[in-house]
Amino acid sequence: MKRRIDALIAKNNCQSYDDYVALIKKDPVMLEQFVNYLTINVSEFYRNPEQWKVLEQDILPALIKEKGRRLKIWSAACSTGDEPYSLAMVVGKQVGLANVEILATDIDKQVIEKAKLGLYNVKSLAGLPAE
Ligand SMILES: C[S@@+](CC[C@H](N)C(=O)[O-])C[C@H]1O[C@@H](n2cnc3c(N)ncnc32)[C@H](O)[C@@H]1O
Repeated sequence: MKRRIDALIAKNNCQSYDDYVALIKKDPVMLEQFVNYLTINVSEFYRNPEQWKVLEQDILPALIKEKGRRLKIWSAACSTGDEPYSLAMVVGKQVGLANVEILATDIDKQVIEKAKLGLYNVKSLAGLPAE
């Protein structure tokens, strides 16, 4: 964090942390730059596969039993979209895509743009099931 913040301070020609805090308080563009620079956006399809297994095998069946097949899901820090698209695949398989509503949000506007685009390189798709 310190290294990243120091780099931003230098990039914006600030002389101290206080100067930089004053800058991001008064300039919304600088604040956005700060948030985008600081967030760690690592993500991949089915990241932490063991958790997806629990979701698929335990949580979803229990949820469907209790609430029915129409589900609303919030991917609250969705990064580049790998998580909400993984959710669409996993949940859609159990209840049908038409029954799932997925809200995906992130504090970092840059990754939201990537998520909307939905383009991924071959490497990040490597762990996806064939179907
Ligand atoms: C390490 S990524 C994880 C992405 C995804 N959930 C996954 O597991 O693959 C963490 C994400 O959380 C976002 N984030 C951090 N603080 C946040 C906040 N207060 N509100 C919304 N998103 C936030 C970051 O911008 C980043 O994209």
